[in-house]
Parts: sequence; structure tokens; C-alpha cells
Amino acid sequence: MQNNIFSGLFVGQNLLSLKEVDSTNNFLKNLLTNSKPVPEGTVIMAETQFAGRGQQNNKWHAEPGKNLTFSILLKPTFLSVTEQFDLTRAVSLGVYDTLCPILGSALKIKWPNDIYYGDKKLGGMLIENILQGNQIKSAIIGIGLNINQDVFPDEASNATSVKQILHKDYDLRLILAEICNNVEAYYLSLKAGKINDVRNAYLNRLYWFNEQKRFKAGDDVFEGIITGVKDNGLLVVQQNDNENTYNLKEIEFLNNIKP
Ligand code: BTN
Repeated sequence: MQNNIFSGLFVGQNLLSLKEVDSTNNFLKNLLTNSKPVPEGTVIMAETQFAGRGQQNNKWHAEPGKNLTFSILLKPTFLSVTEQFDLTRAVSLGVYDTLCPILGSALKIKWPNDIYYGDKKLGGMLIENILQGNQIKSAIIGIGLNINQDVFPDEASNATSVKQILHKDYDLRLILAEICNNVEAYYLSLKAGKINDVRNAYLNRLYWFNEQKRFKAGDDVFEGIITGVKDNGLLVVQQNDNENTYNLKEIEFLNNIKP
């Protein structure tokens, strides 16, 4: 039976809630290799992941039962491979719009798809696309959000949670349902061709946008200003009179404290 908090058309209508799994992304990937078709919008959520994966081969740690760790299956065959980043934008916006009414405007999307409150990380996503020719056949969208976790280990000094910010617990399923509804809305905007609306909304919520900040690229530490994000997702940073573009592995955001 469906719970009506999932008020969208398809995202979250088929929800599988697991007690423990290696990684919800892995689980969904394996499900896709079985012969039975998996409906678009299927969501796998887990109370505990014992091998949660993050960006750039990092591990994703979350205290069992206190946070959201889930994966959504989308089939954006209407997007070409060169438009992959629009899906990242749509999903980031769906998460952002869910948390913004609770947390306010200190909430930002840190390029490419981290969710930040002030200078701390609330969550992130790992989007794994399965390509067929020039199209995206399926997208496994893994999202990890720190919700009710009170303390973080020393090595995650940059992490925060909704609980640390607001000092109260939130219902994980309600937040999940709202994310599903909002992700679906942005996804349907993309499908309807409103790509520019999605791109503008993403830029409007971008962490450090149009601000003079410190970055590191290779051995080079410099001050620059994020002036945009290319259609394909590369970050555009202006340094003096030059604009350079970077992929995720090429640039690091440094905090404001001078060495
Ligand atoms: C990051 O910021 O590094 C991305 C974190 C993504 C974590 C989520 S939790 C659910 C899904 N399953 C995984 O193994 N990873 C993603």
C-alpha cells in the first residue's frame, strides 16, 4: 500500500526499505541486471550501509537509522550524454528545495552536487549513469543526507546535520517523500525542455557564486570568483582577467583562513 506523503507520479511510488545493505547504489545496480524490469522512480533506502560510497572513491559514513541514505532510479533517455549535468542540477535542486524551508538561505548547493549549510557539508550525491550510445539509459542517483546525527567523527570535521543546526529530530520518511516529490518536479521540467530554468535555478543557489574566494588547482593557490557553470558541468572561475574551467578533480575550494 502506498503512503500518500509521496504525492508525485512515480518517484518513490515503488519504495524498498532495507535494514542493511552494502550500498543502495550497488543494490539498485544489481537489481537492474536482473531480468525483471525495474520501474522508473524506484527508491531503495537503507537504515545502514556497510560500504556506502561517496564521490571520488571516498567512503560514505552515516550513523545507522539517523540519516537518509537512498538511491533513486531514473530513466532520462531524453537527455544526451552531453546533458548529464542537467540531471545533477535537477536532483540537487530537488534536495535543496526540500531542506530550504527548514533551514533557510544559509543552505547552498556546492558545485557540483554537495548540499552545504554555511561552510559545512550536510550531504551529497553519487550519480551513476548507465549510457547507451549517446543517451542516458538509466541513472542511479544515490543521496546521503545527515539528518538526526548528533556527533561526527573527528575525520568528518566538515560535516553537519539538520539536528546539529536545529536541535531537533526530523522524520526521515517525510523528508524522503518531499525530496522524491521535488526531484520529480525538476526532472519533469527538464523533460518538458525547461533546461534554462533549471540551469538558472541551480546558479542562484550556488555556494560561493560571484564571491572572491580561495581555490587550489594543482600546486596553484589563488583567489578567484565563480562566474558560472558550463552546460556540461565544468566550473568557471575567473582569476584576474582570465576565466578558466575545471572538472571535479582539478579544483579544490579552500576556506577563508590564510595559512
Ligand atoms: C558524496 O558527497 O561524496 C556523495 C555521497 C553519496 C552517498 C549516498 S548514500 C546512498 C547512496 N549509496 C551509496 O553508496 N552512496 C550514495
